[in-house]
Amino acid sequence: MSLDIVVGAQWGDEGKGRIVDLLAEEADVVARYSGGDNAGHTVTVGENTFKLHLLPSGIVHPHTIGLLGNGMVINPATLLDEIAMVRQAGIEINPQRVKISHAAHLITPGHLALDAAREEARGAGKIGTTRRGIGPAYTSKVNRSGLRLERMLTSKGFQDALSVHLKDVNHQLDRLYNSPPLAEDEILAAYSGYAEALRPYITETGEFAARSLLEGKRILAEGAQGTLLDLDHGTYPFVTSSTPTAPGALVGLGLGIGSADRVIGVVKAFQTRVGEGPFPTELSGDLASRLRGTGENEWDEFGTTTGRPRRVGWLDVVLLRYAARINGITELALTKLDILSGLESISLGTAYQVGTSSTKTLPLGPANLDEMTAVYETVPGWPEDLTGIRTWEDLPQQARVYVAAIESLVGLPVRTISVGPERSQVIQR
Ligand code: GDP
Ligand code: IMO
Ligand code: MG
Repeated sequence: MSLDIVVGAQWGDEGKGRIVDLLAEEADVVARYSGGDNAGHTVTVGENTFKLHLLPSGIVHPHTIGLLGNGMVINPATLLDEIAMVRQAGIEINPQRVKISHAAHLITPGHLALDAAREEARGAGKIGTTRRGIGPAYTSKVNRSGLRLERMLTSKGFQDALSVHLKDVNHQLDRLYNSPPLAEDEILAAYSGYAEALRPYITETGEFAARSLLEGKRILAEGAQGTLLDLDHGTYPFVTSSTPTAPGALVGLGLGIGSADRVIGVVKAFQTRVGEGPFPTELSGDLASRLRGTGENEWDEFGTTTGRPRRVGWLDVVLLRYAARINGITELALTKLDILSGLESISLGTAYQVGTSSTKTLPLGPANLDEMTAVYETVPGWPEDLTGIRTWEDLPQQARVYVAAIESLVGLPVRTISVGPERSQVIQR
């Protein structure tokens, strides 16, 4: 059995796409297991940069097969646009290469409209969602009124089910949110076209994944979002509506307990978050601008999906230890170490002050971070540019001290260190 799971150890955008691209070299199958096009995963190969929202990042490697698992919610319009985009870059997409779970759920314009209406209605208490219809699509799923992709396999039943769904959404938009109704006929026509286009890709991906493992193939599960956005284990209610943590890979791909080997936690060398919610090590002012960047570089801290500036801060080791526990992380992949070059000193949040006492764990999990003040340990920075460095020995001594501090504070090895967005800008240990 060989299933490796890549998870975001923070609030998303840790560089999962970039790490998946590295690991996909050795994988036969790369599988997304949760979330939808709220995700934005960037892969840079030479001059080409791909921003993938639904297709697994590993698809960039011609030898891989990509799965979109049953744990996902899929906007068919986005998926077809993305397929067209990657095809234009010369990447082959066909039903032999890309397989979509019959049990994944569809996102409709109804879900998009409800996402927007609910965010507006929350006012100051808004979550700051990506407005991609994610929460409402998972609500439909849990409510047992969702539209699974298998519906697209038969046209008549699909149109009827979609029509019932749209009538229900229009009722909610009118009665709860005082919003105008959606045009049912236009949506039915568009979705009939999407069904036609996607039908050949829809299959029992769980069976395919299980058979692949039995045949000795290697599956790489690609997490979206991050541990602290997990519906159960994140900073509730400022979370997404799925299970991006490692156990979600088993549920979201239809694989049994005991399938997984490695769990690779991707962690950015500092902390970022897009959207609302607590963030104990958050920085403001010049230091924040310095870590965020101006938006001039592709890798500056502006959302891949929404373009929103990301909130930034120092690495929070308390939360990282928590992520290690929740996911069963076996090794860390550290990204964006190059961004810290030139800082005089670097801080790590290693504990929280609550009233007069300090704690290194979370008394009530991350949902209650608001009352916590971060306590820091500080290490010296380094002036050298890291982007051309390819070995551990060549890293400046202070950079090695920083990495070693993370390893010892979290109790996990950092096996991969990324020093730039491009495929080759990496140190493997
Ligand atoms: P994901 O959602 O976790 O896949 O991450 P995103 O793609 O949303 O955001 C990560 C950004 O950082 C992307 O623009 C990547 O190209 C970039 N990136 C990843 N690793 C590195 C790195 O080591 N250094 C730099 N400078 N950029 C990186
Ligand atoms: P990747 O896979 C960062 C955040 C949103 C918001 C919250 C809920 O690129 O790391 P949703 O639209 O899911 O209902 O929004 O979750 N969020 C992400 N933040 N990276 C992501 O994905 C995210 N996906 C959702 O900003 O705070
Ligand atoms: Mg992202």
